[in-house]
Amino acid sequence: MKKEINKYVTWVGKTDWELKKFHGDEFTTNKGSSYNSYLIQDEKNVLIDTVWLPYDKEFVENLKQTIDLNKIDAIIIQHGEVDHSGALVELMKEIPNTPIYCTQNGIQSIKGQYHQDWNFIPVKTGDTLNIGKNTLTFIEAPMLHWPDTMFTYMNQEQILFSNDGFGQHLASEHLYADEVEQEDLWGQALTYYANILAPFGMLVKKKIKEILEMNLPIKMICPSHGLIWRKSPEQIIQKYLKWSENYQENQITIIYDTMWNSTRKIAELIVEGIQKIDKTVTIKIINSSKDDKTEILTQVFKSKAILVGSPTVNNGYLYSIAGILEMIKGMKLKDKKAVAFGSYGWSGEATKLITEELRKAGLEIINDGIKVLWTPNEEIKKICNEFGKNIIKKL
Ligand code: FEO
Repeated sequence: MKKEINKYVTWVGKTDWELKKFHGDEFTTNKGSSYNSYLIQDEKNVLIDTVWLPYDKEFVENLKQTIDLNKIDAIIIQHGEVDHSGALVELMKEIPNTPIYCTQNGIQSIKGQYHQDWNFIPVKTGDTLNIGKNTLTFIEAPMLHWPDTMFTYMNQEQILFSNDGFGQHLASEHLYADEVEQEDLWGQALTYYANILAPFGMLVKKKIKEILEMNLPIKMICPSHGLIWRKSPEQIIQKYLKWSENYQENQITIIYDTMWNSTRKIAELIVEGIQKIDKTVTIKIINSSKDDKTEILTQVFKSKAILVGSPTVNNGYLYSIAGILEMIKGMKLKDKKAVAFGSYGWSGEATKLITEELRKAGLEIINDGIKVLWTPNEEIKKICNEFGKNIIKKL
């Protein structure tokens, strides 16, 4: 279904209400998503990005209702990932000679996935495409979040097409960010940043500063997922700047898994200790085997410290903790503290092993952690309380 944005630009994407998992099973998308494709009709007609592969035929059929495909003069693929390039094969069957503008890395990525030698035109930052009243300027944005990513700026309408940048996995009947429930919107924008862009924080900051220095007036930001920022788009730019600067709130997140509740009890005793010293700090307590990993990573991103606990099992730790530790490592977090804890019956390696993984993830280790034999008795309960108190004193 097409939706008109202004006299030149029409949204021709796909709202995916069903999407619950993204990147395989890496990202939980409980609120669905959208694949935003934009058709610009000026003296020349240009399509920016397509949609995810399963919707390719539907996309092309819908596009035909909006424009005679032979009148499309150019296709811009800002990023080769299949959620944006997925309908290319179907589309190019109809218009095989249409030039595809993308970065040099984009050409490699698209060729690598679709094995087609289409009419690629490589572009770099500052290259332009005159389409009539408007000129499109390309801005490379490597590693935000793939090497091939770029943004496109439409000068007269002052629109920044930002691909994954500033996006949200949020399906909506609306088109604009100001039309939806704001807590949902900002929550999803943060979740998106934490789970997709956090590892590239330094590059996000650098790219935003570069764009701000270009002094491009930006009236609207059109991302390739979720809602369009049309009222005060600088709000999301400022949020990205904040999130890219080793972001943290006054929050501690405690992530544990447990076999027979001993590690859970230790987690709760540590929390008791923390709260005896500081009642203002937000504490999130999460069982990693029961809660969603995308939510866990979002809470980790918001935290100034994380505590990770597991019982020792087969000389290691439980698999849900292993998965979360691997994902935390990938976030490349800076300026966050961490500590491990866990219960054991005999060998008791988990706390030490988790500490090592947290260190490898770049977190500042508060201390060697705590391990408790079997279940906490009255004396150990006090020790766990003290452990919590000492952690908060060190933050
Ligand atoms: Fe939305 Fe990186 O694809």
